[in-house]
Amino acid sequence: MSRTLFRTKNVEQSIQDTEEPEHALRKTLSALDLTVFGVGVIIGTGIFVLTGKVAKQNAGPAVSLSFVVAGVVCALAALCYAEFASTVPVAGSAYTFSYATLGELPAWIIGWDLVLEFALGTAVVAVGWSGYIRSLMDNAGWHLPAYLGGREGAHGFGFDILAAALVLLLTAILVLGMKLSARVTQLVVAIKVAVVLIVIIGGAFFVKSANYKPFVPEPQAVPAGGSLKAPLIQLMVGWAPSNFGVMGIFTAASVVFFAFIGFDIVATTAEETRNPQRDMPRGILGSLFICTALYVAVSIVVTGMEHYSRLSVDAPLADAFKAIGHPWFAGVISFGAAVGLTTVCLILLLGQTRVFFAMSRDGLLPRFFSRVHPRFKTPHRPTILLGVVIAVVAGFTSLSELAELVNIGTLFAFIVVAIGVVILRRTRPDLPRAFRTPLVPVVPILSVCASLWLMLNLPAETWLRFAIWLVIGFVVYFLYGRSHSRVGRAEQSAAGGVSGPPGGGTR
Ligand code: ALA
Repeated sequence: MSRTLFRTKNVEQSIQDTEEPEHALRKTLSALDLTVFGVGVIIGTGIFVLTGKVAKQNAGPAVSLSFVVAGVVCALAALCYAEFASTVPVAGSAYTFSYATLGELPAWIIGWDLVLEFALGTAVVAVGWSGYIRSLMDNAGWHLPAYLGGREGAHGFGFDILAAALVLLLTAILVLGMKLSARVTQLVVAIKVAVVLIVIIGGAFFVKSANYKPFVPEPQAVPAGGSLKAPLIQLMVGWAPSNFGVMGIFTAASVVFFAFIGFDIVATTAEETRNPQRDMPRGILGSLFICTALYVAVSIVVTGMEHYSRLSVDAPLADAFKAIGHPWFAGVISFGAAVGLTTVCLILLLGQTRVFFAMSRDGLLPRFFSRVHPRFKTPHRPTILLGVVIAVVAGFTSLSELAELVNIGTLFAFIVVAIGVVILRRTRPDLPRAFRTPLVPVVPILSVCASLWLMLNLPAETWLRFAIWLVIGFVVYFLYGRSHSRVGRAEQSAAGGVSGPPGGGTR
């Protein structure tokens, strides 16, 4: 039994596939390209929206320190991710890497987890986008009724119509196979970074030092009955659940961690990188460093412009400018944020459909989903299915709850990847590694501890939701994936166990 759970796809074959001339991707990316791409996928709802909420509820002006904590956790994970990705430099994601190295069950868990990361991540970014569009509409004097503005502001029924509409529109774009050209991507990255710089430089003139007092607000008890909303670590050690204070900085870090998600997508381009050993860490760490510096600066400025208790939760960066009587600046920021968030949403949605497609092609999910559209040559079935589900989720769920669930899933994937690096060094020392994590096993161990620490700072109810998601994943695997796996079927038929075409799978 355990042998089948850990059966792997052949690494050498995967690598060999990438070397065949007709399947080889061109190795053209430099460290600078990777950095631009990284900044393009990383900067999004995290900084544009979550900053306001966590400053208001968890950390006050000390939210800037939360960004530093989250950035360090990501840098450790990035060093492990880069080795994992470059050992099996096949275009794809952590799912593909782990199937080739750790085995089917860990790969399934990671794939299932990535569905959570990318699908719900798309929903979070769409909800953030909707907040900025509403801020723009407010500027023009158009107001959506509260019940169409999403859960966060609604009492009773609330559906975020704009977020749902964006997801459906992007789904249609992906089904039609339209791609963003490199030029458009660069333009969007430039707009996004320009807006962030406008906030930092423009806002700096309106900072009032009184708003920084206290920089780390006193801990405040969470109202009784909200204990499932308290960070798990506080419940585990028997503290009375509280917001703010030093622990509030870590609670906030576990939420703003969302702002860094996306650098793992950079690691998946190892196959296309000119000199992965040198450029991969430069690209990943470079983009992480730039984003951390921008995030810290933005949060210092925004909490200095407006007292943290008054920050808006929908579009905090733009609304901070409205609050000081500069709606024109607010309009420019909302426009830039909306443009920038659209591409982040598109990239996450694309990543999600590709993972689902890969899992289905391997037979772990029904192979019905891996037939590409005859005309558009895109995996239209998973794209439409997931697009509709994500649109509904984006419409009905609150942004912070979704972001917390995405974070726990991603942190869990980081832990599996860090452990995977150490295991692979022992089990397959022979594999060529385009990039080697420094100081193994120290860096992977630190990465596991740091990721676990942030996970423990997430609310108990997020753990509960994540556990339910994993249990559903196990049920799907044991009821379907294990018996339909193409690798498994090929092994069985090679051993004469079952009749049927090798690698045939079900259709
Ligand atoms: N890091 C991306 C964001 O903040 C996913 O939107």
